[in-house]
Amino acid sequence: MAKQKTQFVCSNCGYTSAGYLGRCPNCGQWNTLVEEKIVPDTVVNRKARISLDGRVAKPQRISEISGNETPRVQTGMQELNRVLGGGIVPGSLVLIGGDPGIGKSTLMLQVSGQLTETGGSVLYVSGEESANQIKLRADRLGVGSDDFVVYPETDMQQIESVIQQMEPDFLVIDSVQTMQEPDLQSPIGSVAQVREVTADLMQIAKTNGITIFIVGHVTKDGAIAGPKILEHMVDTVLYFEGDANYKYRILRTVKNRFGSTNELGIFEMRDRGLREVSNPSEIFLEERLAGATGSSITASMEGTRPILVEVQALVAPTVFGNAQRVTTGVDRNRVAQILAVLEKHANLLLQNQDAHVRITGGVKIDEPAADLAIALAVASSYHEKATSPSDVFLGEVGLGGEVRSISLIEDRLKETAKLGFKRAIISKNNLPGTILPEGLQVIGVATLEEALKIGLGLQRYTRQDNLN
Ligand code: TYD
Ligand code: MG
Repeated sequence: MAKQKTQFVCSNCGYTSAGYLGRCPNCGQWNTLVEEKIVPDTVVNRKARISLDGRVAKPQRISEISGNETPRVQTGMQELNRVLGGGIVPGSLVLIGGDPGIGKSTLMLQVSGQLTETGGSVLYVSGEESANQIKLRADRLGVGSDDFVVYPETDMQQIESVIQQMEPDFLVIDSVQTMQEPDLQSPIGSVAQVREVTADLMQIAKTNGITIFIVGHVTKDGAIAGPKILEHMVDTVLYFEGDANYKYRILRTVKNRFGSTNELGIFEMRDRGLREVSNPSEIFLEERLAGATGSSITASMEGTRPILVEVQALVAPTVFGNAQRVTTGVDRNRVAQILAVLEKHANLLLQNQDAHVRITGGVKIDEPAADLAIALAVASSYHEKATSPSDVFLGEVGLGGEVRSISLIEDRLKETAKLGFKRAIISKNNLPGTILPEGLQVIGVATLEEALKIGLGLQRYTRQDNLN
């Protein structure tokens, strides 16, 4: 019998078994056994970690370490450089996750093309498409340098030997779920495979100073291991998001050992690949209907960058059964809470009304600063009174009907003024000490009621008045 190369280890208690067991006999947990390669004790098969200048790592006093930042490789895409924290750090491991079909392969092909143009060599390993298919797409995207090598393969041993021969500057693995360690019996795409493949890639990146981009599909059902389990193993995690029905794609930093997280790059999917969008606010507002009810504008921070987006709401009587609350791009519970505050403190009768709230352009917002704009859009639809097209709303709405201050107000106001808006309605608590941009009237309010009064141009707007 061939010597066994793998074993199963309980991820809960560490119990090891030669074969797979559904339940760990030691701790009694179900489905915790994962397959792992057996590392023989006698062989020291771990290579020493080599620093980027080619020297073997050794312990050093912190005062003796030079703090110079390694120079970064600039890709031709500013939006990508930004999410990476200012360019590619050589020898880093970058995971690009996203739904199937969102454009990960397209992005990697374009980046590869640009990296070869500036003198780098790229090995593009694809387990999903044939060389032919990649060639067709590369032609469409105008990628065709001699330093760009395509390799349709899934066997990690083969891939490793090609890397040793070619010594590329950059390696793309598309996708990690299609690669396999031939020693493991676990099926391709399983947790065990994906983890071992990534561990191997990490070793390759750190010992050879090769920058590796790993593409990983995010899947909703747990059957195939998603990139979630790899996040802690890699240096940088980027998520490529967007609604396949919209042309905009957002590249988001989820983790970055070399820069800030929550950075964001915006792209547009065209016939000939992805195009960078350097002024996203204009795009997210371009299709706005002037004078329409149920619409309001807010400035949402996406990383370090404010983006102006439109919030739309539609309030209509419930026809059947319970009132529906349908949201797109914003948390449903958050909207439900704002609706409750409107009902309690602004006298909107919403319990027998369906409410639809969406952020246009496929943008997702998850910060409380958008509360006020959501409340305004809902009230605007309810009263059938439009907000002014030159107003922006910035504030968190508290359960007591108060408008609370938000973070980074100056950045948001600056962007608002830059795009030609005339008024910003914000929490009055945000006013002290805030430098206001020129040409923008900034109005501080204490309550949601006040904001509605100003934003919807209602003369009188108190609970008592409404009850009369
Ligand atoms: P792809 O990069 O294959 O997605 P992923 O690797 O994340 O699965 O992108 C596929 C989609 O992108 C597909 O629906 C077609 C579209 N597309 C364009 O619209 N324009 C283009 O130039 C390319 C190459 C793809
Ligand atoms: Mg792909």
